[in-house]
Amino acid sequence: MIKDFANSKLEHTGFDPHSGSAYETVLTRDDFNNATQEITTWQGYEATPLHELKALADALEIDSIYYKDEGSRFNLGSFKALGGAYAGLKLVQRELSKRLDLKISTADIRAGKYKDDVAKITLVSATDGNHGRSLSWGAKMFGAPCKIYIHSEVSEGRAQSMRDLGADVIRIDGDYDASVDSARIDAEKNDWFVVSDTSWEGYTQPPVDVMAGYGVMTNEIVSQISVPPTHVFLQGGVGGLAAGVIASLRQHWEENSPRVIIVESELAACLYKSALADEIQTFEIEEETLMAGLSCGEPSELAWQILRENAQDFITMPEEIVAPAMRLLARPLGDDPKIVAGESAIAGLATLVSAASQKSMREALSLSARSRVLLIGSEGATDPEIYREIMAG
Ligand SMILES: Cc1ncc(COP(=O)(O)O)c(C=O)c1O
Repeated sequence: MIKDFANSKLEHTGFDPHSGSAYETVLTRDDFNNATQEITTWQGYEATPLHELKALADALEIDSIYYKDEGSRFNLGSFKALGGAYAGLKLVQRELSKRLDLKISTADIRAGKYKDDVAKITLVSATDGNHGRSLSWGAKMFGAPCKIYIHSEVSEGRAQSMRDLGADVIRIDGDYDASVDSARIDAEKNDWFVVSDTSWEGYTQPPVDVMAGYGVMTNEIVSQISVPPTHVFLQGGVGGLAAGVIASLRQHWEENSPRVIIVESELAACLYKSALADEIQTFEIEEETLMAGLSCGEPSELAWQILRENAQDFITMPEEIVAPAMRLLARPLGDDPKIVAGESAIAGLATLVSAASQKSMREALSLSARSRVLLIGSEGATDPEIYREIMAG
């Protein structure tokens, strides 16, 4: 099985991180603590498992592999459950406090104490699936109307799962970045409130809250392993997942934090391109990657501030190793656990297996028998039909 990965072509660039403290100023300890305190009180909260893949680590001649499996998060199928719902709630809290000139708690909002006022605050976002699902679910939990913009390639299964949560789903022509623009323009026209997982000039608070929500995941990881990993492979869309994880890991482990390797599809490599130029770049997406959650052409500005100070490597991976990596988790080596992983979950794993099987990449990333690798399995089978097709392959 591992043979599928040995000849796949990874593009790698080493990166000399800028010095700075973005990991604790862009996202502060308070941001993370507040998010964790709130989210862990929600009904259905449970830490997701951190699986050790011993047989795979042996086969790759590295010390250990830890896979954080976000498939069961709040029954929504991905880590994104932590971000959009929380950012939506914080936005409603700020807006209500302003309108009513009162300090209003999130607990009172969730309890329905201000239900008539909340019903007048419409939340809107663009999504390729998981962020919108989180926002739709949150909006339903605290009673706000929700509009979700999707692009032409978002699968009908993913669209329906948001309708099922009560969202009004609007499909536009064009790609992800076009759906972000449409959501923004319509929000302005209609006095709706954008809850985006990506930031741009002048738009920062909801993306900060989204990334702070992701810190719940890292908070769990640091209590699930005692020794810090040496490497973490983090998949990138706009970079929010990577930035949230890096910042909270570094706040916890400081100088013992792992080497950060950012992984993207070669079809949507905006962070890789930004690393090469040492400044934010747009990547023109010509073909959609199977890893729908990673199909982003523009980095989040705030996320980039954290990445540029903390990431040592940027890698792009080819499409041909997506399905084999999903199958490797579903039909594992030896006694490793069987894991249901969606397309965007496996970018780190596919890249690790591929890199560890190639001498030059092992050297470039300093992978050895002493390496302890952390991976974020960011979603389960969020589109069951696509998952079934891939498993049948
Ligand atoms: C399952 C999954 N993994 C990873 C990502 C990438 O996250 P980000 O866009 O914050 O880099 C996404 C984004 O939608 C996702 O849905």
